[in-house]
Amino acid sequence: MTETAARADLADITSHDTFVEGVPHQTFTYLRDHDPVSWWDEEDGRGFWSLTRFDDLRYASHNHEVFSSAKGIRLEDMDEEELHARRTLMEMDPPEHTNLRRLVNRLFTRRGVGAYEDTIREIAAGVVDRALEKQEFDFVTDVARELPMRMLGRLMGLPDEDGDWLVTMGDQMIANSDPEFTEHVVDLTDTEEFHLLPFRSPAALELFDYAADLADERRACPGEDLVSKMLLPTKAGDPLPDHEFKNFFALMVAAGNDTTRYSIAHAVNEIIQRPELLARMRSEPGLIESATEEFLRFATTTMHFRRTATCDVDLHGKTIKAGDKVLLWYMSANFDDRQFADPFTLDIERDPNDHVTFGAGGPHFCLGAWLGRLEVRVALEELIPRIAAIEKTGEIERLRSNFINGIKHMPVRVTPRLVP
Ligand code: HEM
Repeated sequence: MTETAARADLADITSHDTFVEGVPHQTFTYLRDHDPVSWWDEEDGRGFWSLTRFDDLRYASHNHEVFSSAKGIRLEDMDEEELHARRTLMEMDPPEHTNLRRLVNRLFTRRGVGAYEDTIREIAAGVVDRALEKQEFDFVTDVARELPMRMLGRLMGLPDEDGDWLVTMGDQMIANSDPEFTEHVVDLTDTEEFHLLPFRSPAALELFDYAADLADERRACPGEDLVSKMLLPTKAGDPLPDHEFKNFFALMVAAGNDTTRYSIAHAVNEIIQRPELLARMRSEPGLIESATEEFLRFATTTMHFRRTATCDVDLHGKTIKAGDKVLLWYMSANFDDRQFADPFTLDIERDPNDHVTFGAGGPHFCLGAWLGRLEVRVALEELIPRIAAIEKTGEIERLRSNFINGIKHMPVRVTPRLVP
């Protein structure tokens, strides 16, 4: 079969609808093996390259001079005005990026985040206990959504009661391709009037107002919280301009919530499908740490990010031209058998497990990686000893997105167990 003929059988990874049924792993496997630098036309865009192998993602992520973030990190093509209006840390290259990231880096180191473990545990225990009283509930909305939302609120020094609203706004932005979360579905409705807002979403305007009030408050009375740090002068000398602070705030609300929520949901979905894992981790809680990494690999909640080539690059016989969009498919790299033995087997003791769920290294490696993995681990550590069994009472519902691998709903029944 010719390459073109073979490609006719591939799933359309440009379409959000494709991912509603599940991740098209066969397509990614084919691409890794036969077409590791593949070109994809887009209905509403100028097309893009897909990198699907682990080594190529590492190469691109570490070479920001060639694979720049400054033209956008999602598929959407943005003109200069849009880029300027919507810019965050993510759409900058070093050294500008480094200067800004330094403002908040320390709060997110392993040690910095470790200081929150007790808080995370207390929140997780409360959330799990409340859900278990019901025995039948939606695991995503009642458990997985609650923990990251409350945790980020604490990090930012925000009142707990604002958490639900903030996450709803975050969902409207980051899940902008799913009609359950927004009426302004980005590929199905006309979002032109919102083109200068993050994710082309009007929810950003409400978050901006909230951020502006918060900035006034913290400028008057700074603390050690994340928002106060975001208002400090960068190494270049000045604090962020107002619109960049607001974008940064919106980014935090969006990036810090749904990814962790869906990672927790995926972990529990995998456990439900393998009841023996529950017993194993209950009797050997030390396994939960390596299991968390494996659940994170399997979930790969952020399926891709984009870079833009700054010059012509030859890779695996293809020439990526200067200005071309290049997607780094973390979802594919995490199942590359050149890197992971038996990648489709979930092995909770996998070691080493250098997955790219938080990025493939380089300057943009996930700021919240230590927080995210801590939240997932602690959620499991609080859930597992409390339940004797967990099963689904209906089908899961997946997010309509080729960007975020999300489980929106997962109805479950649990049999609680007395905590020894
Ligand atoms: C399991 C949960 C999470 C996953 C799967 C995830 C995934 C990612 C990925 C793939 C990237 C891009 C890496 C790259 O381009 O090289 C990223 C960047 C980022 N993440 Fe996360 N993330 C998670 C949790 C969090 C949390 C909890 C926060 C904040 C509280 C956060 C904040 C950020 C920020 C600010 C960036 C941009 C960093 C930069 O451009 O320098 N993430 N994340």
